[in-house]
Amino acid sequence: METKAINQKQKEIYAQWEQSSMDRFCKNYSRLIDRLQERESISILDIGGATGYFANALAVLLSDKSKVSVCVVDAVKYEPWENLTNKVQFIQADALTLKHLFEKETFDCIFANRIFHHLVSHSWVESVKNMHTLCEQVYDLLKQDGYFAVTDHYYEGIIWDEITSKLLYQYTSHNKRMIQKLLYQMGAKSAGTGVCMLSEKMWYTMLESTGFLIENELASPGAWRNLEWYKAFGLLNKRYSLDNVMVCTKKQHEPGRDCI
Ligand SMILES: C[S@@+](CC[C@H](N)C(=O)[O-])C[C@H]1O[C@@H](n2cnc3c(N)ncnc32)[C@H](O)[C@@H]1O
Repeated sequence: METKAINQKQKEIYAQWEQSSMDRFCKNYSRLIDRLQERESISILDIGGATGYFANALAVLLSDKSKVSVCVVDAVKYEPWENLTNKVQFIQADALTLKHLFEKETFDCIFANRIFHHLVSHSWVESVKNMHTLCEQVYDLLKQDGYFAVTDHYYEGIIWDEITSKLLYQYTSHNKRMIQKLLYQMGAKSAGTGVCMLSEKMWYTMLESTGFLIENELASPGAWRNLEWYKAFGLLNKRYSLDNVMVCTKKQHEPGRDCI
């Protein structure tokens, strides 16, 4: 299992995005943060936490009432890590190696904001498999009453739900310089590296098949939009929605259900 690294341009953009999204993330997750604050001690992991500003904000917010430990795992090291180290622990590692870094059932809450679609590999199928693998690892690392909090985008294809995901992966993974430049101009910051966006249905299927229950009352939905006609045509895209929040718990095993 392997993932491709983001490029330098992406790193610069994501560092800015993370800093500017911090307040919105805290607002989107406010009901979840309230729930977490009921615990005496809280252990948090932010996968793909970039600069660590969101992780640091969580540490500050939650340490009012509880004993908190917050850890960021990111494949890339960002400059602010040096200044934020007293509240957050930073580990530079591939998300798919999490199971080697932590014990099972360690965390009360695991965040994965806008990282899943970056788990690209050398084919679309492998990239989707990477996402399933990360979900399984998150499931194992969460305590039984833990929360898995995801922010990510949905892209729904025309007629065939997965078609936009496949086309977007193919276009952005292209290694021809001219095509990369063109896609970059059109707004695809991941041109040359690739992205693997899922539809809402694919997200729900992946989470539910891993054993998660999506707790809608804790999540803020994104807004559905339409791409410009030429992008919608090129990607066979029906609609898309950015920064959708999915807060999940582990499905509880119902005692006696297996014994007929
Ligand atoms: C779009 S940024 C999101 C940053 C932040 N979570 C946010 O929502 O603003 C994606 C982050 O995921 C990290 N990333 C990408 N692939 C990764 C991998 N395989 N393992 C760990 N981190 C990865 C990138 O380095 C980057 O910091």
